[in-house]
Amino acid sequence: MELAAVILAAGEGTRMKSSLPKVLHRVCGKPMIKYVAETARSIGMKRVVVVVGHGAEEVISSLSNVDFVVQERQLGTGHAVQVAEGKLSDFEGDVLVLSGDTPLLRQQTLSCLVALHCDSEAAATLLTAEMVDPTGYGRVIRDDSGRVKRIVEEKDASPKERKIKEINSGIYCFKKDKLFPALKKLTPENKQSEFYLTDVVRLLVKDGERVFALRTDDPSEVVGVNSRRQLAEAERIMRDRINSRWMEEGVTLIDPASTFIGPDVVLDRDTIIHPFTFLEGDTSVGEGCSIGPSAHLVDVKVGDEVEIAHSVVLDSVIEDGAQVGPFCRLRPGTKVGKKARVGTFVETKKSIIGEESRIPHLSYIGDAKIGRRVNIGAGTITCNYDGFEKHETVIGDDVFVGSDTMLVAPIRIGKGAMTGAGSAITKDVPDGSLAIERSEQRTIKDWAKSRRKRKKK
Ligand code: UD1
Ligand code: CA
Repeated sequence: MELAAVILAAGEGTRMKSSLPKVLHRVCGKPMIKYVAETARSIGMKRVVVVVGHGAEEVISSLSNVDFVVQERQLGTGHAVQVAEGKLSDFEGDVLVLSGDTPLLRQQTLSCLVALHCDSEAAATLLTAEMVDPTGYGRVIRDDSGRVKRIVEEKDASPKERKIKEINSGIYCFKKDKLFPALKKLTPENKQSEFYLTDVVRLLVKDGERVFALRTDDPSEVVGVNSRRQLAEAERIMRDRINSRWMEEGVTLIDPASTFIGPDVVLDRDTIIHPFTFLEGDTSVGEGCSIGPSAHLVDVKVGDEVEIAHSVVLDSVIEDGAQVGPFCRLRPGTKVGKKARVGTFVETKKSIIGEESRIPHLSYIGDAKIGRRVNIGAGTITCNYDGFEKHETVIGDDVFVGSDTMLVAPIRIGKGAMTGAGSAITKDVPDGSLAIERSEQRTIKDWAKSRRKRKKK
């Protein structure tokens, strides 16, 4: 049986009190709607239709490989699914309905739901869960023999119904030819004056159709995010899941509670992640590395045996055996070569640092190409900006740059050359030469001593 998914993502998310559409709020750095779309894709959906409305443009630009349909007015979840009908007019198969605000749903669980639905040939199959605190969710009402009868929203539920712990996850599989006719019969006669998708269950049961429910063992999977508190809860659950996975793969997390790893980050075994570390975006870390404490990496490719401590690294490459930090800021386009070292209080940008080169302290290196085995003295700065444009600094292999050198770009320092400490180098330096630029030192004998004497008097 072929399947299409409809993801509901048109709501404003009033309870979030936000100018950002709810489904774009991030969990472990990724918009909630992206998790849902990816999970749908991962079980081989033929087609994914996302219903957008509130903040439609922003939601549309955050997703790829899906179809969109606009729900102009948010009249309820039932209405939202109805709006998607047009997009599925040429589609024969079952329809999976997902919520854009349920990011924790696992691929495996979704597969089970689909399998149960297909095997049982039910008109509808719901995913439900037993919640310790079911507040805010729709409750599943079953008859005496345990068959699903209907779903009642919290706001419409009687005190007795509110005591029910089994909740509707908002994730369902429907037979297409049962779903859409039922949607047309919905009426907004409820506390919220909305067209509830949940009422379809009651209508199908009334027509003698079979409705089944799959109860998940793990209620955390179906946590719906309606408020900032639930967002934080989803974040905690997702973080826990990601961290557990990497520990199982052989990564040491000194303190999982203070380790923040994004869902798309990849780590290799025997790497140690120290507390207060954030690994985000498209970051990968090789084997046997030591990352943190207090490392913040976004879109960084890290090789094996690398050490990074107390540093911020963005969109950069750190090769095997390199050391970064403490207190570095490596900005986009930095490449730190094998066994190179970028030390205390160093900022880099769009620069290549060759193998075994060292920038141990207090430097700014921007738009530079540094060869191998180069030593950059403390306080060295590439003056890459003339107030109008950026210029390049090229430093050959085995160069020794003296402390506090200003390298005024564009400039080239030839292989094996040296610069004297405190020099402002404005002209290219040929291979093997020394460039020094500073006035001769005057030493006035006993001047300091006599000055002190005068002061005392
Ligand atoms: C819904 C269910 C509830 C279930 C809960 C699970 C209904 C009536 N209730 O309640 O039984 O326990 O999810 O999390 O379905 N949306 C639209 N258009 C609309 C309204 C909503 O696209 O007109 C989208 C929202 O953006 C959201 C999803 O549908 O992604 C669910 O809507 P929401 O308002 O969060 O429903 P809940 O009150 O959580
Ligand atoms: Ca919700």
